[in-house]
Amino acid sequence: MIDIIDLYKMFEKNQVLCGLDLQVQTGETLVIIGRSGCGKSVLLKHIMGLMYPEKGAIHIDDQDVFLLDTKALNSLRLKIGMLFQGSALFDSLTVGENVGFFLSEHTHINVDEIKDIVAEKLQMVGLEGIENLKPAELSGGMKKRVALARAICYDPEIILYDEPTTGLDPIMADAINDLIVELHRKLKVTSIVVTHDMASAYKVADRIAMLYEGKIVEIGTPDEIKKTSNEIVQQFITGSAEGPITHNQKRYIKIKPNNKRMKK
Ligand SMILES: Nc1ncnc2c1ncn2[C@@H]1O[C@H](COP(=O)(O)OP(=O)(O)OP(=O)(O)O)[C@@H](O)[C@H]1O
Ligand SMILES: [Mg+2]
Repeated sequence: MIDIIDLYKMFEKNQVLCGLDLQVQTGETLVIIGRSGCGKSVLLKHIMGLMYPEKGAIHIDDQDVFLLDTKALNSLRLKIGMLFQGSALFDSLTVGENVGFFLSEHTHINVDEIKDIVAEKLQMVGLEGIENLKPAELSGGMKKRVALARAICYDPEIILYDEPTTGLDPIMADAINDLIVELHRKLKVTSIVVTHDMASAYKVADRIAMLYEGKIVEIGTPDEIKKTSNEIVQQFITGSAEGPITHNQKRYIKIKPNNKRMKK
């Protein structure tokens, strides 16, 4: 469904994407992992046609995203819902206006119908009846869920989630994971989830892909990724800062028990 071919993106001297190839299959949930700053959000913005590469192509249902005119791009975007990192709600609008924003701006659906759709989507994310609140009155987890309601308000075929659980407590994070799985089941969407959170990745993914130095260096099912022999992936999924244990870390491990004894 989404075919990313040899994508290159550079900001001044910063080569972020460097010949990235990735195929996302219809109906799957693909999780993209990778260190902060490696280009995950940049990749999602290319899929939405919000950024353009120096080289490469993205085909969505056989449409070449970077060759579309504004009108065609807008209708392609109606197929894609995006949950932006940091939610990106409009502070001056109410929750209801935020969720229904795209429908009122880009479709001819009437106001009453939009209200019904907004109420239904807020209910799906467990926040019924909060249409009149402003984003400033919401917690971080509520903002993420409102942003999710906005991303699904026009029943997209593809949902892009940028760090849906970052900054949430583990219970709220898990509630968001459940929502992703449930939306996937109910709406039969194709999803790409960008995350640092491996618990979340294992829970929602059909496949996990690791982005490193501008390319996908490994892709596989959660079980395959857990068993990988690729050191870069191992290092990331186990959360070790330095990879194989360093000389200094060995010294620290030796010193630590003595320190404990001294405290006693
Ligand atoms: N609009 C921009 N102009 C210049 N540089 C940018 C722009 N957007 C992103 N970058 C740079 O591209 C690189 C990748 O950024 P990106 O936001 O994709 O990282 P990320 O993998 O999403 O990180 P994080 O996990 O922290 O969200 C960074 O070095 C960033 O500074
Ligand atoms: Mg990001």
